[in-house]
Amino acid sequence: MLSQHDLKLQAAEAALSLIEPMLTAEAVIGVGTGSTADLFIDGLARFRGRFRGAVASSERSAKRLSDLGITVLDLNQVESMPVYVDGADEINASLHMIKGGGGALTREKIVASVAQKFVCIADESKLVQILGKFPLPIEVLPIARQAVARVALSLGGMPKLREGFVTDNGNQILDVSGLSITDALTLEKQLNSVPGVVTNGLFAIRPADVALLATQHGIRRL
Ligand code: A5P
Repeated sequence: MLSQHDLKLQAAEAALSLIEPMLTAEAVIGVGTGSTADLFIDGLARFRGRFRGAVASSERSAKRLSDLGITVLDLNQVESMPVYVDGADEINASLHMIKGGGGALTREKIVASVAQKFVCIADESKLVQILGKFPLPIEVLPIARQAVARVALSLGGMPKLREGFVTDNGNQILDVSGLSITDALTLEKQLNSVPGVVTNGLFAIRPADVALLATQHGIRRL
């Protein structure tokens, strides 16, 4: 019986095999945030010197990359990126995701938007039929916290401030539970149109292109 850590490692290794043929002297790899992304970063270190560098979706991942001797680039220095690899908190069969459990949703969404391919790595427990059991993170400017919370309530959600947490961008996170998300695309756009919302953790406008889900019986590719 593989542990959750082993499953995450299996997913990270599957992504490393997938991206290896994309590595060139010019290639920049987009790197996500979280425990599964950490394992991907650790494995990426063995390809050091075979690609230009990485763009990180958080300060935490940037530190891990540079500690391993991988060049960390600012996104503004990069024109194109063959691939972005990241975990998810939930993913459905349409490859729509909830992300942001680690609070890095905004930078994740920005870096993913530049990449040609988004590879989601996770253990199979993240695969759901309907998104929303995992509370949906919304990054908000502090001044808009209560106003955005009222909108979340009006949509049937239960917003809760992530206490003592400040994002890499200096903002706050509302975690909204109780949503049963059947139309992720519409909800993502609707929430992003509320003044004061930096972004929300739905990834439907830019879903994953491939999901590598680790199971007890090997990788399931969606
Ligand atoms: C980070 O903000 C999130 O979007 C992560 O991708 C997500 O929380 C997955 O993390 P784990 O790989 O630790 O489950």
